[in-house]
Amino acid sequence: MNTNDSQARMEAIVSLCKRRGFIFASSEIYGGFSGVYDYGHYGTLLLNNVKNAWQKSIAQERMDVVLLDSAIFMHPMAWKASGHVDGFNDPQIDCKKCKSRFRADHLLEGFGINADKQPLEFINQELDKLRADKKLACPNCSSADVTEAKVFSLMVKSNLGSPTDALSEENVVYLRPETCGGIYLEYKNTIDSLHPKLPFGIAQIGKAFRNEIVAKQFVFRTREFEQMEMQYFHHPSQTGDIFEGWHKDRWNFYLDYGIPENKLNWFKHEKLAHYASDAYDIEYNYAMLGGFKEMEGIHARGDFDLTQHSKFSGTDLSYFDEATKERFVPHIVETSVGVARMTLAFIDNAYTEEIVNDETRVVLKFDKRLSPVKVAVLPLSKKEELSGPAKEIWKTLSKKFFVEYDDTQSIGKRYRRQDEIGTPYCVTVDFDTLTDNAVTVRDRDTMEQVRVPIADLVKYFSENLAI
Ligand code: GAP
Repeated sequence: MNTNDSQARMEAIVSLCKRRGFIFASSEIYGGFSGVYDYGHYGTLLLNNVKNAWQKSIAQERMDVVLLDSAIFMHPMAWKASGHVDGFNDPQIDCKKCKSRFRADHLLEGFGINADKQPLEFINQELDKLRADKKLACPNCSSADVTEAKVFSLMVKSNLGSPTDALSEENVVYLRPETCGGIYLEYKNTIDSLHPKLPFGIAQIGKAFRNEIVAKQFVFRTREFEQMEMQYFHHPSQTGDIFEGWHKDRWNFYLDYGIPENKLNWFKHEKLAHYASDAYDIEYNYAMLGGFKEMEGIHARGDFDLTQHSKFSGTDLSYFDEATKERFVPHIVETSVGVARMTLAFIDNAYTEEIVNDETRVVLKFDKRLSPVKVAVLPLSKKEELSGPAKEIWKTLSKKFFVEYDDTQSIGKRYRRQDEIGTPYCVTVDFDTLTDNAVTVRDRDTMEQVRVPIADLVKYFSENLAI
C-alpha cells in the first residue's frame, strides 16, 4: 500500500472512530490536547473486550499466572532503581523556524540510519554529516535551521505530596512510565500471600504515562496510555524455553482473534533497552500507518529488576527453592502491549469497504468476541405492536450480551450503522413475528438472513458468538 492509500485509510478510520463514537481527540472544545484520547461508548466496550481477551488468555486459561492492580504512583526511589530517572530518554531536535519538535532517531531512520538507543554523540555526528551534505531539513517546513540533538526525559512528573513546595529532584513523584514497576514492588507480597511456586507470572492492566516528544499516528503513540503486561518469574536455567513458550503463546493469541499470519512479523532488537538481555517485538502490518510497526514486546529482563529493587529498598527479593535448597534472584520474561495499540490493530484489520448494490458498505469485521455490541434489535415499525415484542427481545438478550435497540430511520440505514460499529447480528422484528413468533437474523459478514424462533434466540447467539 502506498502512502496515499495508507493516508486515505487513516483518515477514513479516524473519521469513523469519531463519527460512530469510538475514539475522540481529548479536550476538543478547548482546541485539543495533543497525544491524549478519550473513548466513547463503543470505544469503551471495544477496549473492555480487548482487555478481557488478553486477561482470559494470559491468566484465566493458565494455572501459573495471577493478577495485580497496582497504583500509578509509586515511591520515587523505585524509578531510580529501575534506571528510568537517569536513562529513560529520547533524543530531541527542534526546528528554529517553525518550532516543530522531532525525535532525532526517527529523522535519521528516514535516511536509512539506525539510531535506535544510540548515544547522543553518534546521533549528532550523523546529523552533522547530513547537515554538511545539505540534506538535513525540518520534516515539517523543510528549513535547514534545526538544532543539534539533546536528551529529553520521557518521565512525567507530578507534585503529589508537595503541592505548595518547589519540587526537589529526589522528592519528585512520577506517573509510572510502564506498569511492570508495580509488579516488581508487589512480587514479595504476592509470594507471601499466594505462595506460588516458580515459575509463575503476575499480570496487570493499567495506565502509563510518557512525555513522548512526538505523539501522533492516532492512538498508536500517545502520552497517556494503558498497558497489559505480564512478568514471568523463573530460574535462570529455564529462560530459553520460557522465552520461546511466550513467543508462541502471544503470536497464537493474535491468530485466534482473527489477525492473519501474513500481517504479523517478528522483529529482533539489536540494541537493547537498559534492562533487557534479549528482546523481540511482534509487529503488525498497520495498513493505515503504511507498514509493519511494533505492537507487542517480549523481553528477557534477566535478574535486573529484582536485583535493583533489592539493592535500593534493602529488602531481600531472592527466592528459596525448597526442592533444590537453592537460593537465587528470579529472572524475568516479560510480555508487554499497549491496549490502544492492540485495539488499533484489530480496527485496522477489521476495517473493510465493499461494494454492495453499487454503494460502498463500510464494515468492521471484528472477531465476534471483540465486537462492542453483539446484537441489534430493529423493529420494522415504531408502533407498539412491533416495538413491544422487540423491547422484550432486547430485555432478554441484554441479560447475556451488550444489545442495542434501534427504531430510527430506514432498515437499510440501521444495518449500515451496525455494520460500521461491527455488530455481528441484527434481529429484525416484522409483522410476521406477530404470527410466527420468529424474527429475521442478519449476519454482518455474509448479509445472509435466517428466520429464528424468538424462544431459540439466546441459544442461537450463545452458540454463534462463542461466548
Ligand atoms: N515494560 C516494558 C515496556 O514498557 P515498551 O517497549 O516501552 O516496553 C511496551 O512498551 C508496549 O507498550 C509497546 O509495545 C506498545 O504496545 C506500548 N506502548 C509503549 N509506548 C506507548 C505509547 N506512547 N503509546 C501507546 N502505546 C505504547
